[in-house]
Amino acid sequence: MQSKDFIYRLYGRSRLRSKKNIDYNKSKNFIDKFSIQNLKINKNNILDIGSGYGENSILLANQSKDSIVIACDNFFDGNFKLAKMAQEQNMNNLYIHNGNVHEFLDKLDQNLYFNSVWILFPDPWPKKKHFKRRLINKLFFEKIYNFLKKNAYIYIATDSKSYLKEILFLIFKIKNQFIWENQKKIDWDYKNASFVQTKYFKKAIKKGSNPFFIKLRKL
Ligand SMILES: C[S@@+](CC[C@H](N)C(=O)[O-])C[C@H]1O[C@@H](n2cnc3c(N)ncnc32)[C@H](O)[C@@H]1O
Repeated sequence: MQSKDFIYRLYGRSRLRSKKNIDYNKSKNFIDKFSIQNLKINKNNILDIGSGYGENSILLANQSKDSIVIACDNFFDGNFKLAKMAQEQNMNNLYIHNGNVHEFLDKLDQNLYFNSVWILFPDPWPKKKHFKRRLINKLFFEKIYNFLKKNAYIYIATDSKSYLKEILFLIFKIKNQFIWENQKKIDWDYKNASFVQTKYFKKAIKKGSNPFFIKLRKL
């Protein structure tokens, strides 16, 4: 079993080098305006994990005004950009957790349940020795299960073949908890879905990869 220290440790960048001289405290206070501490209880809740620059979170919040969207990422510059977009668009249904999703879920009020969870292009950690850093694993599914409503959806997208293989293997293991709805090859293609073109989707297309998405429903 992985220790809490390991689970809470993050390996990707949290700040862009070029932006490091920008006033951190001022930017952090600005992001904190959208902190989940100010969250109002709501019936429809959406969680966007690894929200990056926030393209998907902002779209979801605009599409579902009666839902609250929680963007969760430790990427500070992305969160700052998202907070700016949310302020410019006067959004009142978008919240940001500037940190690790495991910490977020471990501290979350057990009364908050999600209608959908999005994980678009999680860090692939392509080297075998780094596979254990991947976000999506058995522990993740066990944890998120407790925060999902019945029939809630998990959407996952990746262009990493080895990550996809691992996820499909996990899906087989959790088949009593989740049903994989888009099993036909034609339904896996992210390009056919009406999903947002995130930064990492565009990167995948540029390098000639074919991003897949997976739609799981909690039983
Ligand atoms: C490859 S980027 C994808 C960003 C965005 N979803 C997109 O499609 O452009 C993965 C993001 O997941 C974030 N991330 C990785 N592990 C995380 C964790 N445990 N909790 C929250 N965010 C995490 C990283 O900081 C990074 O911004």
